[in-house]
Amino acid sequence: MFSRFVQTSQLGAVVGKHFSTSGQNNAKVALLGAAGGIGQPLALLLKQSPLVTHLALYDIAHTPGVAADVSHIDTRAKVTGHLGAEQLADCLKNAELVLIPAGVPRKPGMTRDDLFNTNASIVANLVDAIAKNSPKAIIGIITNPVNSTVPIAAEVLKKRGVYDERRVFGVTTLDVVRSNTFIAEAKGLDVTKVECPVIGGHSGITIIPVISQCTPSVTFPQPEREKLTVRIQNAGTEVVEAKAGAGSATLSMAFAAAEFANSLLEALNGTEGKVQCAYVRSNETEAKYFATPILLGKNGVEKNLGIGKLSDYERGLVTAALPELIANIKKGEDFVATQFKQ
Ligand SMILES: NC(=O)c1ccc[n+]([C@@H]2O[C@H](COP(=O)([O-])OP(=O)(O)OC[C@H]3O[C@@H](n4cnc5c(N)ncnc54)[C@H](O)[C@@H]3O)[C@@H](O)[C@H]2O)c1
Repeated sequence: MFSRFVQTSQLGAVVGKHFSTSGQNNAKVALLGAAGGIGQPLALLLKQSPLVTHLALYDIAHTPGVAADVSHIDTRAKVTGHLGAEQLADCLKNAELVLIPAGVPRKPGMTRDDLFNTNASIVANLVDAIAKNSPKAIIGIITNPVNSTVPIAAEVLKKRGVYDERRVFGVTTLDVVRSNTFIAEAKGLDVTKVECPVIGGHSGITIIPVISQCTPSVTFPQPEREKLTVRIQNAGTEVVEAKAGAGSATLSMAFAAAEFANSLLEALNGTEGKVQCAYVRSNETEAKYFATPILLGKNGVEKNLGIGKLSDYERGLVTAALPELIANIKKGEDFVATQFKQ
């Protein structure tokens, strides 16, 4: 139903863009922030996934309604709703995968970093609950600023003695989805056959589309390539401005997160060769966390496929991104060191 194609990327690994229907293993997926703009359509998409057997929906508001609604869909996953902190442990217990879109989104004029003060403690507290109730779960963090919330999650897990760097992902799939769409539009290509890796982080200049590694191979005159790169970097702001105060990307984000989750669930089920770009603990650059194509496996990160060969222009983008990325990472780590209560 959903499987569109599988192709061999220039990285030599198999990239599956959309999930197949073959998975039969049990997978409990917990969605934290399930009643939000991303949470609701993501719950709908996960309910459609044959790879999910139990979909546990958690929020601090409105979860009973969302859970009742989604639970009437005649697909395989059992749905449970969990409302408020006292029901969080039940939501998390035995979860294989926990997705976190809980927190506030941007309004026009805001950067992702402007969300830090509110979202840092939301993510820290939710990850603390994961450490206690499902320490082996793989965690996919959607909440912005992703550049900082992933280090926050890692530091909280370290404090609790359950950190496994293979299991913590910042979900940057939307940057790939956008790149594929814009490149296909610009070149008149079938978008279902376009795959462009995006590396770095998930805000402004830290988002680095590697157009030189796009499949199929595409070339642009330099001014056009720069324009396209800047559009990809600012695509989230494009949506924030178009929504004029009503939030940021929700539907395309839910699509992207479902794609990421299904790839991961397929890999957990033993399907080999699933690759997604994601923001993970990394030794690729001086930044401790960096998004690159990741080969997924039974423990999350099976292998970091690395940055690969870059053009001079793309190397310049990495150099420009690193100071901001490193500062964002430090901000997250400092938050846990100084403000997170044991
Ligand atoms: N990674 C990405 O590519 C990407 C893309 C778009 C948006 N985002 C981010 O995703 C986040 C959510 O965006 P949205 O549009 O769904 O926002 P939203 O405000 O519509 O929904 C957020 C939900 O989180 C819930 N929530 C708040 N505090 C909570 C807590 N402590 N525990 C559980 N739930 C809690 C709220 O009740 C709400 O239902 C934002 O931080 C946004 O910036 C990330």
